[in-house]
Amino acid sequence: MSTVYSLEADYYTDPEIYAQERQKIFKKAWWLLGPGNLCQQRGEFLADAVCGWSVFAVRGRDNSLRAFHNLCRHRGAQLLEPGNGRCQAITCPYHAWGYDTAGKLIATPGFERAADFDAAAFGLLPVAVAEWRGMIFVCLDEKPQPFEQWIGSLDGMLADFPDLGELDYHGQFVVDGAANWKTYCDNTVEGYHLHAVHPRLAVAVDAGSVEIKPYDNGNLVAFHVDYGGEGAGLRGNKGLWAYKYPGFQIAVSANAFKIERVEATSINTTRSVNWAWYGNLAADEIEDSFAWSETVVREDLSICESVQRSLEGGFYVNGPLCNSQETNVALFQSLVRQALQAG
Ligand code: FES
Ligand SMILES: [Fe+2]
Repeated sequence: MSTVYSLEADYYTDPEIYAQERQKIFKKAWWLLGPGNLCQQRGEFLADAVCGWSVFAVRGRDNSLRAFHNLCRHRGAQLLEPGNGRCQAITCPYHAWGYDTAGKLIATPGFERAADFDAAAFGLLPVAVAEWRGMIFVCLDEKPQPFEQWIGSLDGMLADFPDLGELDYHGQFVVDGAANWKTYCDNTVEGYHLHAVHPRLAVAVDAGSVEIKPYDNGNLVAFHVDYGGEGAGLRGNKGLWAYKYPGFQIAVSANAFKIERVEATSINTTRSVNWAWYGNLAADEIEDSFAWSETVVREDLSICESVQRSLEGGFYVNGPLCNSQETNVALFQSLVRQALQAG
């Protein structure tokens, strides 16, 4: 068996590679926009930037959920501030053009329309949207792959855990890190670092019973977790942590459901956006669990930042991957290589 080496440093530092990733990886994937419960009622919207592309989803008068690029067709101003809310129509903050919740241009105040100006051609630019198990996903590709195909085996794995509707939405937290997005994904798909980086987590899970398996050709990596007797009261016995390439993570157990969007905000910055739900737990247990989740993300991003500094320093190129504990790192990195090589 020959040694497999990690991706070379320039994959984490070269602006040309990053530009290619935006087109060949980020644009083609589905991205978690946020919880569906924020867009239930007619007129409710949820706006955010995904990999630097500003988008929003809105529930129309016909009860359909649609998503659009968050930009005005006049001179391109951003229409909605990131966040959620409710509207009758969408008014641009720049020159007050108005759009309805189906994306149609309905007002151009003070704009004398020339005879050849076709307002119907200046509706909002649509973005593919999917609702899955109470979550909203978007895809920026003009020809998006079907969501069901993208989500793959993860859907069936969730059958053993509570639905979001059975749990109470608790809140969101965001952590930014100064590291290329791949350092975080490299880290996510291995349990090798668990003991050194996450001491509390290492105690809570029965390390011997964590089974890490790739599915769907490495597009999904699942950690099947047993919290053991000690953690059973807090989180139930069985848990699932899963990473869905390239930027979605989920951690579920009998009483908790946490979802995460991991996105590149630049070549050397990564954002982790998390939402959590709980059920059947005391308030202090929920607070503790929520804060602990954030601690885990901070622990991960902190070690990624140290890796990024070395990748940028010019002395480290790459290193050997462990053939028992880091096989999924090699798989993830081969997906990146393949995507970049594709036409
Ligand atoms: S940019 Fe929106 S109205 Fe001018
Ligand atoms: Fe970790």
